[in-house]
Amino acid sequence: MISVLRLGHRLGRDDRISTHCGLVSRALGASEIIYSGDKDDKLIEGLKSVTKRWGGPFKITYEKNWRKIIKKYKKKHFVIVHLTMYGLSVNKEIKKLRRKKNLLIIIGSEKVPGEVYQLADYNIAVTSQPHSEVAALAVFLHEYFCGKNKKFKKAKIRIMPQARGKKVVESSRK
Ligand SMILES: C[S@@+](CC[C@H](N)C(=O)[O-])C[C@H]1O[C@@H](n2cnc3c(N)ncnc32)[C@H](O)[C@@H]1O
Repeated sequence: MISVLRLGHRLGRDDRISTHCGLVSRALGASEIIYSGDKDDKLIEGLKSVTKRWGGPFKITYEKNWRKIIKKYKKKHFVIVHLTMYGLSVNKEIKKLRRKKNLLIIIGSEKVPGEVYQLADYNIAVTSQPHSEVAALAVFLHEYFCGKNKKFKKAKIRIMPQARGKKVVESSRK
């Protein structure tokens, strides 16, 4: 099971990027995202509504105390992976990480507290260049799952891939 912990969400400033963290987590195979920082009911409701329409399972929650989450997941024997440009290369570490079944992936926003680097079992970089939590998360999940797509359940809407044009199938299930 892959869980994502998004640190330091800021109301107003991070609406779009935090939504994208959730969308990428869901689409690329994580089972849940936990938001920390400012509480944002609109963000959570928006992602719940996407999951209702496009399928799951995918859980979205908020927890003010991110330390509590890291400790809780350590107790459950999850491996804690912090994505940071200062870490070891994902290219070198991914084989080892694929053998771990339960991961808590931490992504930051503006300033990540130093303690996170110590609490993590692995600090992993997707290139040693600054970019974005959305990109880092997408690449990491794609690498972890070897590009294999998750099968979504209870979807009300599905895309039928087309070479050109759009084909969307809606389920009659309520
Ligand atoms: C915009 S960055 C800001 C990071 C901030 N300067 C700090 O204190 O680390 C936001 C987040 O994107 C992710 N990120 C950015 N570049 C990355 C990279 N090259 N590899 C892995 N993660 C990265 C990290 O999770 C980081 O916390």
